[in-house]
Amino acid sequence: AGTEADVTVHGDRPGPIIHREIYGQFAEMLGRGIYGGIWVGENSSIPNIHGYRKDVVEALKAIKVPVIRWPGGCFADQYDWRDGIGPRDKRPARLNASWGGEESNQFGTHEFMDFAELIGAKTYLSINVGTGSPREMSQWIEYITADGHTSLAQERRANGRDKPWKIDYVGIGNEMWGCGGSMRPEFYADVYRQYATFLHSPNDTPIERIASGANADDVGWTDKVMSIAGSQIDGISLHYYTIPTGEWTHKGSATHFDEAEWMSTLQGAMHMDELIAKHSAVMDKYDPKKRVALVVDEWGNWMDQEPGSNDPALYQQNSLRDAVSAAITLDIFHAHADRVRMANIAQMVNVLQAMILTDKSKMVLTPTYDVFDMYKVFQGATYLPVDVQGPVYRYGNASVPGVHATAGRDASGVVHVALVNLDPHQADTVRVRLSGIKGTSVQGRVLTAPAMTSINTFDQPHVVEPKVFDGAKFGDGVLTVALPSKSVVVLDIR
Ligand code: AHR
Repeated sequence: AGTEADVTVHGDRPGPIIHREIYGQFAEMLGRGIYGGIWVGENSSIPNIHGYRKDVVEALKAIKVPVIRWPGGCFADQYDWRDGIGPRDKRPARLNASWGGEESNQFGTHEFMDFAELIGAKTYLSINVGTGSPREMSQWIEYITADGHTSLAQERRANGRDKPWKIDYVGIGNEMWGCGGSMRPEFYADVYRQYATFLHSPNDTPIERIASGANADDVGWTDKVMSIAGSQIDGISLHYYTIPTGEWTHKGSATHFDEAEWMSTLQGAMHMDELIAKHSAVMDKYDPKKRVALVVDEWGNWMDQEPGSNDPALYQQNSLRDAVSAAITLDIFHAHADRVRMANIAQMVNVLQAMILTDKSKMVLTPTYDVFDMYKVFQGATYLPVDVQGPVYRYGNASVPGVHATAGRDASGVVHVALVNLDPHQADTVRVRLSGIKGTSVQGRVLTAPAMTSINTFDQPHVVEPKVFDGAKFGDGVLTVALPSKSVVVLDIR
């Protein structure tokens, strides 16, 4: 039994570079995303490197995180950067008005910039526009990046950092239509122009300016902001979350779900393609050469918080369903690599569709982490277009393509092909035609699990993890792949 699909990989029609930054992450001052998840402090009994959890640092290095967005999210538009510098025991605790509880400010600018350096990631700072000022922004940037003898550079040195750090991206506000200030796009676009005017890098090292973009389908926002401020924008963001039930009041469980919610989640992931196409088409009106990037700096599955726990905000488990939907989304980003040049999954540790979950000294890697690990071969590769002729997976009145695919050629000439089987029941025989690709040998990895609800827990951390895949064979110039149901396979073809 099983279905059949035909996939053609067009090695003879290479597309744009798949920017490494689409594998970016988002880490907000929220729940246990930072405290307990990344930062435990130097005096913790949890093994750490200058306060950063050693296990988490090593896991993040292994997936080559290219860029981290911080400190928010909604948190960013209430953040005073001065609260998070200087001796830690002197830093003020503040209310975390966005997410509840108190913010101790033990993790601030130095801790973030050093963390990015430690794991080898670029930096993406979200600037406070909602309650801040252009002066606060420019002083923060000077504090971080100035090399001379200004009082801000000297203050940084007095706080322990001699050399300036590099800021790669600055986000000018977050969700300015909502938690960032409930602005109309016309008003925000003018505010953006004001901030962009005062955004200088003292070292003349370019900082890319990212405008706060639309919520999901709101192309009107993109249109207005691009028309008023487009010439001063390097990237405009898009935020889109998949909520299995479609309702914010009851989003659906991360672990106890039926096939209807498996389907609705995968449909939600597929919707990203249409969203990017629509926003990109609007951007084309003002920027036909695609100078301005579409930056999907918040995306992922947003489910109900794990029940029965006292965990703070937005802690959710992560199942095989998250892995499959992450793979679909990354495939879609590849296909739009000409416009989508950065993306940041929400979020890195212990929050929403996280890579990593921690509980005191314990850590577990999620199925979403596994996909980021398997897909890291696509970072910086040249996109190769794919055609998929395959089965349709149906449940009730809903349907999605049964097989999803992407491909890229890396700098050493190896072609990588990812195949996703969305059907939780049917295995698929996929015939992969490699057009303009001279490959004779194949190896790969597969991610699947006994159930669509399979998860990794602190006690059973290896239920969902990548395994060596031996289901791909060359014969008569065609690669035949035995793709298990509900799986993600990544092949390396030489
Ligand atoms: O990622 C959680 C929140 O979702 C962010 O703070 C906000 O920007 C979005 O609404």
